[in-house]
Amino acid sequence: MKEEMVIVLDFGGQYNQLIARRVRECNVYCEVHPYTISLDEIEAMHPKGIIFTGGPNSVYGADSPQCAKEIFTLGIPILGICYGSQLIAHLLGGTVETAPTSEYGRTEVTVDASAGLFAGVNEKTICWMSHTDYIAQAPEGFTITAHTPVCPVAAMEAADRNIYATQFHPEVMHTQEGMKMLYNFVRQICGCSGSWKMDSFVETAIEQIEQKVGNGKVLCALSGGVDSSVAAVLLAKAVGKQLTCVFVDHGLLRKQEGDEVEAVFGPDGPYDLNFIRVNAQQRFYDKLAGITEPEEKRKIIGEEFIRVFEEEAKKIGAVDFLVQGTIYPDVIESGLGKSAVIKSHHNVGGLPDYVDFKEIIEPLRDLFKDEVRKAGKELGIPDYLVYRQPFPGPGLAIRIIGEVTEEKIKMLQDADAIYREEIDKAGLQSSVGQYFAALTNMRSVGVMGDFRTYDYAIALRAVETSDFMTADAAELPWDVLKKVTNRIVNEVKGVNRVLYDCTGKPPATIEFE
Ligand code: XMP
Repeated sequence: MKEEMVIVLDFGGQYNQLIARRVRECNVYCEVHPYTISLDEIEAMHPKGIIFTGGPNSVYGADSPQCAKEIFTLGIPILGICYGSQLIAHLLGGTVETAPTSEYGRTEVTVDASAGLFAGVNEKTICWMSHTDYIAQAPEGFTITAHTPVCPVAAMEAADRNIYATQFHPEVMHTQEGMKMLYNFVRQICGCSGSWKMDSFVETAIEQIEQKVGNGKVLCALSGGVDSSVAAVLLAKAVGKQLTCVFVDHGLLRKQEGDEVEAVFGPDGPYDLNFIRVNAQQRFYDKLAGITEPEEKRKIIGEEFIRVFEEEAKKIGAVDFLVQGTIYPDVIESGLGKSAVIKSHHNVGGLPDYVDFKEIIEPLRDLFKDEVRKAGKELGIPDYLVYRQPFPGPGLAIRIIGEVTEEKIKMLQDADAIYREEIDKAGLQSSVGQYFAALTNMRSVGVMGDFRTYDYAIALRAVETSDFMTADAAELPWDVLKKVTNRIVNEVKGVNRVLYDCTGKPPATIEFE
């Protein structure tokens, strides 16, 4: 299965999973491991190549992450990126210094197209730079294979020892020929045949789950969204009826969504699952009463979810494992990598400190949304589920600014249902990345039927995005917006104004809280 694996050694950069993803796009299996992993452990995995990631440190820093120099004698091809490239230079006798001119963003790099990494790459090519240090002098035995006007060693190689390094980031989209470079590394230099396919992720994940779970009982937190649906079907394939899916209706779902989820995963649906629906609406409303701070809402909902699961687990008896559909953007935005906390994604940062399960299984933790969708298709999950709109775990609570009340939930459910219906009617549902209504905490004066109103404003959001980590506001047709506005103010009691959110991410986020 994994006879062709490339490993990524994580030195703390932002794009570590992206590197792994790009390698997988070259049809080569790839795993990310911490830089602290031992040489014995590396050898035991028999990788065909090793990639050192970037990272925020300076190689000379007191606590800078390092690895044993002997890694270069294992005979495994190595590619160092950014910090990784500087580390190679540092460990092998080159010089790394603070660059007189830092480079950030798009940069034209001149490459030596005869170098192994740059076969087929244009001599002048746009790359993404992000560095304050640079390699001032390459180690002995290395050839400089790329430069910029201010960066003398933008890439270097010691082809006879199979060691390669780039100061820039080939893994990001902005490096126009980055995929070619990574392809050259994994397929030509490492000699991988590229026999791995996405369905091998499914097979591998199933094997790993089988091994981990053994005869144990598993509980899956199912929300009906893409991620948890894919996680549930994956688990069902691996452990069959040892799995019970628990769907907590926290009363913060979209209109009629609870019944829709039950129709798909319940006893009348296409899957042969143990399915339990827990109607815990009131319990969540009570806990959220009077709470206005977004992170507090998220933590309360995350904690309450786990408590409900624990209770269900006790009823089933002897449940060891909890499965969650956490995906990679949830992990990094919750600040569990090196990045700052943006928001505590429910399932990750929203977890309470103490969780009463032997282990949490998160089989999709390293995947991006579109990879999860691919896996969902491999598993035979129908398109209408695989391409569902993302919906956050804390649900409408984070689309209602300020205190959550039953009255506000009803208002928002109705407005959101109208918005989605009109987007569907206009045939825009698959061309917009994500769209939803939010209830602002703003009340303003209006006039309806000669009477003064003092009601809430609904905000409409629609974004173009593929990875949900960055997004642009979608330019929805004006006639659709007008229709939605008319219907919302006429049909939803308590709303007298509709606003459209024109902000991208960054600087905003997709959700409002
Ligand atoms: P933000 O608001 O961070 O959202 O730009 C990015 C994507 O993540 C979804 N999202 C969540 N998904 N649990 C989830 O499973 C959460 O707590 C959560 N918060 C945001 C959001 O809908 C968007 O697709």
